[in-house]
Amino acid sequence: MFDTCFEQPSLSRRAAGRADRAALYAAGTATARIPSRHPSPFRYPGGKSWLFPHVRQQLLNREATPSVFIEPFAGGASVGLGVALHGLAERVLLSELDRDVSAVWEVVITGSDAAAAELCQRILAFSVSQETVESVLGSEPISVLDRAFRTIVRNRMARGGILHPSAGLLKAGENGKGLLSRWYPVTLVKRIKVLRDTRDRINFERGDAFDVVRRYANDPTTFIFVDPPYTLGGKRTGSKLYTHAEIDHEQLFSLMTRVKGTFIITYNDAPEVRELADRHGFQVEGVLMKNAHHAMIHELVISPARNRDDR
Ligand SMILES: C[S@@+](CC[C@H](N)C(=O)[O-])C[C@H]1O[C@@H](n2cnc3c(N)ncnc32)[C@H](O)[C@@H]1O
Repeated sequence: MFDTCFEQPSLSRRAAGRADRAALYAAGTATARIPSRHPSPFRYPGGKSWLFPHVRQQLLNREATPSVFIEPFAGGASVGLGVALHGLAERVLLSELDRDVSAVWEVVITGSDAAAAELCQRILAFSVSQETVESVLGSEPISVLDRAFRTIVRNRMARGGILHPSAGLLKAGENGKGLLSRWYPVTLVKRIKVLRDTRDRINFERGDAFDVVRRYANDPTTFIFVDPPYTLGGKRTGSKLYTHAEIDHEQLFSLMTRVKGTFIITYNDAPEVRELADRHGFQVEGVLMKNAHHAMIHELVISPARNRDDR
């Protein structure tokens, strides 16, 4: 099942300089059939594929390749996966607390070939109808594989891709066509195969983002991409999207002041967030980007103070 039918760019992970990495990146995108904007099998609510070009540029502008690119609130991990696929860091570490989301990564990234092949087989064989979808969503998984499959079905079929069990399903439509229009088995399997071919560069652990950040805080060669649930100020949109939505934002900012590597934190633009960033001495930049549905998104990208090494 995992034949190498998807060309991969031969990216040297030891690329030393900025020019080298830019050239490798260009070569990679020119030759490889790697999805540059949507490498993830998830359509993730609050997903950051739209921010990947911004992060990529930051990585290309650096003198040195990060030893580890860490996405501790991984969700659909589109940025972390993009970084791994394009060889923009030596390796990528993803972590996530949600058991259902984690199950997908535990099969796709850290699972055996047999488990990943079985997941692909189930995706390809799934016959979509209101009945079959409800039966999968109502089932109690026995294995990680069952859980991963159920998560993928829920993610495709629930409104807005919301994985929280309370999220409603899309309308079935005539003969289940509404649901069918959301099911792209071949695309999903292609994405999974590409990630399997790249898994020597990606690791996943189920766990708390705070623990992961703490573990790498003293390593100046890392790059940490922090994309927490948006549950501070404004509309608190994150609280309706995720099972694990409540985090201690004050504690997160305080922890990030101890990080010696490079980082960016993304947030909704709310006075409470700006105040927190300001109080911790971070730089705040507003980014305006188009998402996959061509809607304009305005969010904050928060990074260490320019002069932090002088402190
Ligand atoms: C905004 S989403 C991340 C989206 C992701 N960047 C993407 O592009 O798909 C935030 C994620 O953090 C997860 N989460 C919440 N609290 C967490 C914690 N303490 N540790 C790890 N993950 C957590 C949620 O389950 C959710 O998947």
